[in-house]
Amino acid sequence: MPQVNTLPGTTDKRLAALLTLLSENATIVISGARIAREIGVSRSTVWRWVEQLRELGVRVKGQQLTGYFLEKVPDILTPDLVRKRMKGSLFGKRVFHFFKTDSTNRVAMELGYADEPEGAVVLAEEQTAGRGRAGRSWHSERGAGLYVTLLLRPKLSPVQAPLLTMLAGLSAHTAVLAQTGLSAELKWPNDLLLNGKKLGGILTEMHAEPNSVRFVIVGIGINVGQEKFPGEIAATATSLRKESGRLHSRLEVLVKLLSQFETDYNRFLREGAAYVVQRFELVSGFANGKRVKVDTGRETFVGMTAGLSADGLLIVKRDDGATTTVIAGDVSEVM
Ligand code: BTN
Repeated sequence: MPQVNTLPGTTDKRLAALLTLLSENATIVISGARIAREIGVSRSTVWRWVEQLRELGVRVKGQQLTGYFLEKVPDILTPDLVRKRMKGSLFGKRVFHFFKTDSTNRVAMELGYADEPEGAVVLAEEQTAGRGRAGRSWHSERGAGLYVTLLLRPKLSPVQAPLLTMLAGLSAHTAVLAQTGLSAELKWPNDLLLNGKKLGGILTEMHAEPNSVRFVIVGIGINVGQEKFPGEIAATATSLRKESGRLHSRLEVLVKLLSQFETDYNRFLREGAAYVVQRFELVSGFANGKRVKVDTGRETFVGMTAGLSADGLLIVKRDDGATTTVIAGDVSEVM
């Protein structure tokens, strides 16, 4: 199958160029004629796109006659900006950006099937059907969170793929610490928590043959700028803004996350599972000596966590005396 060049719904390159032009000249009025010339469209198209950007929440001031300027540089993850910051990296080659899509995991899956090479990054400002683990949804408010999926083609057996979820959790932990100074708790297998509330999560999906992975997609969601959350998650979710008391640039968090993930991924490929398992045990206070309730979907039990197995599964010493290795399930702390 030929490699995908454009995907329906990705941000038009010229619209992104308009945004870059305005951002690089923020607060300076640029005439519609100059914009039209520089990005190669008509003045009426410029006007139409400015309207579109306004609808997307970008604060563009001015009008057709006087020219336009940005009231505030928006924190939008345009592909140009991301590529520039990730130059030379595995994740600086192919960046697919959407103002709105259903799920970046769904898009990345499509790219995987279409033979897109390893390293593609799919980003959305907003997801209308963000996916969470165990069939849950992922709240994806426009411009507030980081919604990113990475396409990987590692030479791994399918049983090792879940280690990539833990690896992404570790990278997210490091990125958040570097950006904010906050040390997020890692809860096996895929939760990122601050003060016991959910800050982020990872959803890994794959396409595999019985003995080898064809591709894996790692979807990462981090709550960055949310001030509040709707109804059912209001009490259980949090964001970097809520926890640190200040607004952080999503671009900065993204660049730290991608750079860290690349380093961690390469070490995992070189050193194997032990690198991920040992680091996870070190960073996660959940992996050892925590009293937890485990719901595997088939049964529920209570016990103490007793470390991770060599391939990253959670070992729990149950109250009834048995030891169970949890392959998948919901783990919550019992106070
Ligand atoms: C979870 O904790 O339940 C996992 C949440 C994963 C959310 C991210 S946001 C980017 C990517 N696209 C999706 O649809 N889901 C993941």
